[in-house]
Amino acid sequence: MRAGVSAPNIVGRCREMLEEARERTLALIAPLSERELRTQHDPLMSPVLWDLGHIAHFEELWLTANLDGEVRFGEMPGMFNPFEHPRRERGELDIPTLEQTLATLAAVRERVFDRLDSMGVDEESPLQRDGYVYHMVAQHEYQHNETILQALQLKAGEPYQPPRGWSTPSRDTRPAPTGMVRFPGGEVPIGTDDRQSAYDNERPQHLRSVAPFLIDVTPVTNEAYAAFIAEGGYARDEFWSEGGRAWRVASAANAPQYWRREDSQWFARVMDLDGPVAPDHPVCHVCYYEAEAFARWNEKRLPTEIEWETAAAWSPEHGAKRDFPWGNEPPPDRSRANVDQLAFGTAPVGAYPGGVSALGCHGLIGDVWEWTSSDFSPWPGFEIFPYAEYSQPFFGNEYKVLRGGSWATRPGAIRNSFRNWDYPIRRQIFSGFRCARND
Ligand code: AVJ
Ligand code: FE
Repeated sequence: MRAGVSAPNIVGRCREMLEEARERTLALIAPLSERELRTQHDPLMSPVLWDLGHIAHFEELWLTANLDGEVRFGEMPGMFNPFEHPRRERGELDIPTLEQTLATLAAVRERVFDRLDSMGVDEESPLQRDGYVYHMVAQHEYQHNETILQALQLKAGEPYQPPRGWSTPSRDTRPAPTGMVRFPGGEVPIGTDDRQSAYDNERPQHLRSVAPFLIDVTPVTNEAYAAFIAEGGYARDEFWSEGGRAWRVASAANAPQYWRREDSQWFARVMDLDGPVAPDHPVCHVCYYEAEAFARWNEKRLPTEIEWETAAAWSPEHGAKRDFPWGNEPPPDRSRANVDQLAFGTAPVGAYPGGVSALGCHGLIGDVWEWTSSDFSPWPGFEIFPYAEYSQPFFGNEYKVLRGGSWATRPGAIRNSFRNWDYPIRRQIFSGFRCARND
């Protein structure tokens, strides 16, 4: 091995991480026929077969081509380049067969492992140091897993029968946590300097002065959201911003996506399960405008992403910020948060007392992504790394930031500093929210 090459244990860890990511991807698609994988179930989402091909070519690009040459993004075969083909057009692409796609995934992986075994991880290359690019590629596969699950919730025809792995805990005998907690104001470190897993948009860590605020102890529940509907929330203009009113007219929405009313009860379908909406679960599949209208009805507002991150990460006791609400370790697991997909649904609020943040908020990680009032913009000192196309094209006022991950997020793709973004009208994502208020 060359000088600067790391100890073999990092090679082993990178291999295991990639293998485990693939195992999950294949488990998620196992219940589906080739026809179902090829179908575009909704213009908002790619055919799942496209995601699979895209996963393979992204890996090939980063873990073979870009490691030995100049770093490029545009070299991805046109069909799988997301910028050349917007999602709504991907149903018309001549995507290879399932057999061919699986063979490509396996062949790329073999080349990646051969290279990794012979060359190791070059600790002198910023791209490879601490296995950065391997984490990036694993995270990319995790993120496309969540995208695939959004598409499968929208699936046409027979509902997707998910490979359930566990059920969520019920809350213990205590009543659900309620109310708000207070941040007294102060200078708070936001973002991270991590160079092993964090994306460029999470860096650098920097100080913000944060005014005192109150924030909900839990995400808004289905019961609370149903009360907003019952009080005419969707009909009363005073709760809706201009953009919100336009969305409401265009969409004719009167409840979260997937909700329907029978007699005086709300029902929802989650994958293959159809039943009454659980009152004590976080509301899911609402867009930014719905979250904003609920907050106004509730005489509150949405938190900024700075406030959200403060509530998740700041520990007055340690005088430091932390990677997860409960501390710096361990990464999210099922004892602390409803993450990692295989529950295939939300849990009651307060079901993870081991996941409470120092400020006293439950459920910041997992269950539902939480809308914030912030536009997606670079942190001061932002630097593109390692490619412009991940974050930079999306900065500006078109996208709103979501935080905390959902039940469909893999643990390696979520942390206090992670920033997700989407258009304020989107709600096929696993999105909810909590409210805040000035103190
Ligand atoms: C961070 C979820 C907005 O899906 O567009 C996947 C993640 N980037 N492949 C997206 C992503 C490139 C990204 N989000
Ligand atoms: Fe991608």
